[in-house]
Amino acid sequence: MSKLKITETSLRDGHQSLIATRLTTDEILPILKKMDDAGFHSMEVWGGATFDACLRYLNEDPWERLRKIRANVKNTKLQMLSRGQNILGYKNYPDDIVEKFLKNAIYEGIDIVRIFDALNDIRNLQKSISVIKKEGAHCQCAICYTISPVHTIEYYLKLIKEFESEGADSICIKDMSGILLPYEAYNLVKSIKETTKLPVEFHTHCTSGVAQMSMLKAVEAGVDIVDTAISPLSSGTSQPATESLALSLIGTERDPQLNLDSLNAAADYFKDVMKKYMDSGSYNIKVLMTEPKTLQYQIPGGMLSNMIMQMTSLNALDKYEDVLAEVPRVREDLGFPPLVTPMSQMVGAQAVFNVISGGRYKIIPTEIKNYVKGMYGRPTAPISENIREKIIGDEEIITVRPADLLPDEYEKLKAEIGELARTEQDVLSYALFPQVAKEYFEKRSTEIEDIYDELYI
Ligand code: CO
Repeated sequence: MSKLKITETSLRDGHQSLIATRLTTDEILPILKKMDDAGFHSMEVWGGATFDACLRYLNEDPWERLRKIRANVKNTKLQMLSRGQNILGYKNYPDDIVEKFLKNAIYEGIDIVRIFDALNDIRNLQKSISVIKKEGAHCQCAICYTISPVHTIEYYLKLIKEFESEGADSICIKDMSGILLPYEAYNLVKSIKETTKLPVEFHTHCTSGVAQMSMLKAVEAGVDIVDTAISPLSSGTSQPATESLALSLIGTERDPQLNLDSLNAAADYFKDVMKKYMDSGSYNIKVLMTEPKTLQYQIPGGMLSNMIMQMTSLNALDKYEDVLAEVPRVREDLGFPPLVTPMSQMVGAQAVFNVISGGRYKIIPTEIKNYVKGMYGRPTAPISENIREKIIGDEEIITVRPADLLPDEYEKLKAEIGELARTEQDVLSYALFPQVAKEYFEKRSTEIEDIYDELYI
């Protein structure tokens, strides 16, 4: 076995997991050159929630952030996370938006695009795969790892074969809830390595307390790349610490051979940054608390805390245990969707309604109806006749790729946002987050007017 490769996640998943994606570009830039010297395989710096957070909370242009990061990172590949046909948003976008978005991201310096679909429906990834390949970037297809009677090793291997035949350049095991146990990780990686020659990467979260153990077992089973975060942005709901893993493997054939001086410099830098967030209260000790219940209920940590919040606001916290028991039943009714965005929110909300409204499926959110209609893709297991009827009556189920029903939208959106958008990238920001992007553009125009006024008074 050869040297283990490391994807550094601090600048995307690390701060997304610990401080709700609040690192600013100004906080990121000063340490990039040091990180670039560390010898990482790649740095995940964009996508996921970073795009939304830039526009919504930081008054920043996410495209500008990517350009600035690229200008400072010369040796290391830059990686982003995209939700397939949902790109960085929460619904399916038409193909022209997916195409233009990925094209621009790759043009601005993204080398590796990791794509996944919440339902593991390959049809929701096909457009992204073909664009990423055409633009000359590396296309990594991720399986959303979940546990259910239908999510067997055979199921995952079949999915990986599909990824391979669609043109994937590598495979990722994406364990978003941190529920992949050490020996399961070993078996899964081993089986995948026997099935495909493509490089395999392991992504997990420390939420339940097993991530470091599972990562080591994955390394022993021959995983090619693992995702870790520099120590001050690691652990808790984030990834295992980069330095600790690197130090653990010194003297073995899997030693990732990272530059420890660079890692230490980055750690010292981020300790100060994170202290600021701790002092201001944005970095809450709660995200660092190990939550083994995640393993028991197989419910992601974020979903647990969301449901507690909903139950509290509905004054029904006494029914929390009932809701916890209802989640797996709803999941089974709906064909065992993986509990990842947006399915985790949808299943959680339906479970809450089923418990507090005095009857199962008395209240059904539109999203759940659309899901049953096939608008999100194909459920892993078929939905029973009975449940289908309860949720959508005799309405028809679509069998085509959901995005086939969406007409191209770019030109329409471009006209709609008008002069507020200055570039194609602005129009794409608007396509993904209409309200938020518009507000950002408006603020930006007033700021420029202010500068103009100052200059010419
Ligand atoms: Co993650």
